Amino acid sequence: MTKFTGYRCSLCGTEYLPGQVTYTCPKDGGNLDIELDYTAIKKKFQPEDITSRRDFSLWRYEPLLPVNVPKGEATPLHMAGWTPVFKLPRLADKLGLKHLWLKDESRNPSASFKDRASAIVVARAQEIKAEIVVTASTGNAGAALACMSAAIGQKAIIFAPKSAPPAKVAQLLIFGAKVILVDGTYDDAFDLTVKAADEFGWYCRNTGYNPFTAEGKKTAAFEIWEWWMEAHRDWHKKDSPLDSHSPLTVFVSVGDGNIISGIHKGFKDLVALGWIPNMPRIIGVQAEGSAAIANAFNAGTEKITPVSATTLADSISVDLPRDGVRAVRAAKETNGTYIIVPDSEILKAIAELGKMGIFAEPAGATAYAGLVKATASGVVGSDDPVLVMNTGSGLKDVKAAMQAVAAAPIIEPTLAAIKRIL
Ligand SMILES: Cc1ncc(COP(=O)(O)O)c(C=O)c1O
Ligand SMILES: [Zn+2]
Repeated sequence: MTKFTGYRCSLCGTEYLPGQVTYTCPKDGGNLDIELDYTAIKKKFQPEDITSRRDFSLWRYEPLLPVNVPKGEATPLHMAGWTPVFKLPRLADKLGLKHLWLKDESRNPSASFKDRASAIVVARAQEIKAEIVVTASTGNAGAALACMSAAIGQKAIIFAPKSAPPAKVAQLLIFGAKVILVDGTYDDAFDLTVKAADEFGWYCRNTGYNPFTAEGKKTAAFEIWEWWMEAHRDWHKKDSPLDSHSPLTVFVSVGDGNIISGIHKGFKDLVALGWIPNMPRIIGVQAEGSAAIANAFNAGTEKITPVSATTLADSISVDLPRDGVRAVRAAKETNGTYIIVPDSEILKAIAELGKMGIFAEPAGATAYAGLVKATASGVVGSDDPVLVMNTGSGLKDVKAAMQAVAAAPIIEPTLAAIKRIL
């Protein structure tokens, strides 16, 4: 069955056939949405055909993806996705919420959400027989591409800013990618990668620029959909007071805006298939020093004005977000909103999540910092069921983590010394 029918520009609406374009709209540079044949998919599949699958990875959604499962079995490439959802009752109490969960994307093979996008792009690279895949990255997208590529012997080149946290650079190197550190920002690396891909004929994975990244990211929405159906079933069994019409509110941190637009695309696919009764509400959270998309949303425009990004949340430190328009729409079209948080609140969020047994990198904890602000300001009410995404592991940026907590005391090895500090 051919599911992938072509692309549609998110700005001008022009449609392109699969072989006609590769990255963005040739007319206006707009991000391209991948189009699927929903009628054919609906004819062939019922939701149960998907939810009964024994493949516990994002590949269980193959019928809804524009690529097929890469050959081979049980490599990290085949294991991306299907991340756990934890209930957070103590934090829910603290915030005055009845229902709060966290979906932990740090459980992906390279420890961030980006594995979803990279898995799909690497599958696409195999299908189009690309010799080399390249990406610009603040660290995670590159680590994900390097990991997924290593899993099946695909050659990968990563351009990252030289300021990327050492653990992320270590991942790139250990996964055997060719790593090039750029003396500049993520945005400089992005532009350079596009030029280099063009010059040397490499296949470019750049976030948002490559339309397949959002297709990988949408699989998180499919998992949320499955989990939510299951959660509802349980509530009905227990005669829960939860109003079945309360939409789920999903909090996600935003840099380039591709995770949020990918999650939105996943829910839109489910609506198009008639498999989801109501669209969840999506709330984007940006760091104060890197808030170009939130600024546009708050100004009621889709025009993204670049900023000079400064935030300790390196993964979401972006001057000019590359998927800004669709990211604004993800909140607008789902009755969501954008929330801006300072770095100090991101650090607090790292510590709060840590006390629940969850270790998030700054960009991962940003979504929770946004929820704290949203409950205080009434954007989220106590009855609203809330799911927060942790998009990356705290082990990726230990230096930032250490700023979120007091240093451990150092003592001489005596009982007297213990007594002095207790
Ligand atoms: C951990 C983490 N969270 C959030 C994001 C934001 O995703 P996007 O840039 O698609 O908005 C990224 C992107 O690199 C990330 O690595
Ligand atoms: Zn266009």
